[in-house]
Amino acid sequence: MKKPTLVNHPPDVAPPPGNQPVIAPIYQSVKYEFETIDDTLRMLRGDAPGYFYMRASNPTTRQLELTLAQLQGRDDCLATASGVNAIAQTLLALTKAGDHILCFIETYGPTRNIIRRLLGRFGVEHTFLSIEDLAGVENVLASRPTRLIVFESPTNPVTKVADIERLTELAHRHGALAVMDNTFAGFHQHGEYDVDVFVHSLTKYASGTGDVMGGAVIARALRSAAPAAGSGGCAAAARASPRRMPRIRARIARAAPHRRRAAP
Ligand SMILES: Cc1ncc(COP(=O)(O)O)c(C=O)c1O
Repeated sequence: MKKPTLVNHPPDVAPPPGNQPVIAPIYQSVKYEFETIDDTLRMLRGDAPGYFYMRASNPTTRQLELTLAQLQGRDDCLATASGVNAIAQTLLALTKAGDHILCFIETYGPTRNIIRRLLGRFGVEHTFLSIEDLAGVENVLASRPTRLIVFESPTNPVTKVADIERLTELAHRHGALAVMDNTFAGFHQHGEYDVDVFVHSLTKYASGTGDVMGGAVIARALRSAAPAAGSGGCAAAARASPRRMPRIRARIARAAPHRRRAAP
């Protein structure tokens, strides 16, 4: 091999079978190659597993996604560049012009902005209620077709706890999807409820060190409905979060008294 070629194709030093690293290696490569064009096409068609381009997925990101899906008690996860990116991708993927969204005044501000300003520009309509106004939720759902309800519990920054069981039941009774931002509660919570799509910011408890941004969309079946934007380049989150996930429950528990003090 010529030397200029060699530097692009260094010798393979993968560990032998039976001699695996204890901590999973971090995959930095943007592109993945295949032996043949047919193999490439099979993977791109979804007929064979594999990786092609980091924006869509890579083994490091995939490991994070599968961990988060299992913690949340769902089948699949799409890691994203931030929590707001997870919310935006989810709402963009699930709505079209003329749809109606039911959401809440206690919801995280940027989420309300996405609904008002971004989706509003594309003809997606919305109603805002208080998360405590279950009679209002029932009235709105009964009076107009609604594509989805989107809510948090606990809410941020005004800490209120939603009646998740009732909200999901009302949504489904009226043919709407239930989308829940579960950031404040954590991945290990709320999987028992009939939430269709969970979204999370990884920037908070999942990392816990203030130097990682990331987000996640978690659901029963996801990739076929996932928007073309793919995972949005969350390599940093994918690298950092699995190492920091083991202490997520301790971080959430330590934050709880502060959240209670902040509650109105
Ligand atoms: C409930 C909730 N959802 C979403 C986000 C946004 O996450 P990110 O900062 O990763 O975009 C936050 C951030 O504070 C949040 O508190």
